[in-house]
Amino acid sequence: MSDDLLRRIQVHGSVPAHIAVIMDGNGRWAKGRALPRPLGHHAGMRAVREVIQGCLDARVGVLSLFAFSQENWQRPAGEIGALMRLLEEYIARELGNLREKGVTVRILGDIERLAPGARNAVERVMAETAGGGELALNLCISYSSRAEIARAARLLADEVAAGRLEPADIDEQAVARRLYTAPWPDPDLLIRTSGEMRISNFLLWQLAYAELYVTPVLWPDFTRRHLFEAILEFQRRDRRFGRVTA
Ligand code: IPE
Ligand code: IPE
Ligand code: MG
Repeated sequence: MSDDLLRRIQVHGSVPAHIAVIMDGNGRWAKGRALPRPLGHHAGMRAVREVIQGCLDARVGVLSLFAFSQENWQRPAGEIGALMRLLEEYIARELGNLREKGVTVRILGDIERLAPGARNAVERVMAETAGGGELALNLCISYSSRAEIARAARLLADEVAAGRLEPADIDEQAVARRLYTAPWPDPDLLIRTSGEMRISNFLLWQLAYAELYVTPVLWPDFTRRHLFEAILEFQRRDRRFGRVTA
């Protein structure tokens, strides 16, 4: 069924080069089934597999997934612990598969705050998937966009203080080059699941001209077909970038 949507995407031609996703609604998914919240996070792993496969199939080059925010450190310790274990489990299970499919994984965020096991797992997945040419997968973990921008400002200040950079040379490119996302184009499409109409401190700089797509579907229910529906909607949008269309 989703294959006819894929064909329609391909007929249209232009697919987003970079898709960003706020994977939200795991807790509500679990609550709706009278399950503990961590089981909702666990169920969300299947959806991660679906969007990765969907991006490979549609030939999207970059996928950035918001998995854990810096603000999420304020959640109960039990839920944080479950999420960290889940991250390790996901990497242990998927590493071989990701490498085989040519997916290069990068972690964006303050990984020094991760528990040692999770930290080792993310370092291993980055090292062992390096060089895959089919899809760049950015897992945003312990990530906050404001912290990322403040870090870029600090890096620029250090370079000015060391005499390697003139303040007059600090332009948009200079800032963008010091963000975690420096190697990739800005997201063309932002998907948020679970119906919330907010950005929640995700890629504030990079989303300047992204098309926004909010779906009521809860993250654990999100499939490859839902991804293709979002891409088809994206293809119908008129992106003007502040200009007028002819
Ligand atoms: C998203 O699901 C996953 C994380 C933020 C880690 P939530 O846990 O936020 O689920 P809801 O929003 O409470 O339903
Ligand atoms: C955003 O979801 C963070 C992630 C999906 C990882 P939240 O559930 O934390 O966001 P708010 O609290 O609804 O804004
Ligand atoms: Mg949420």
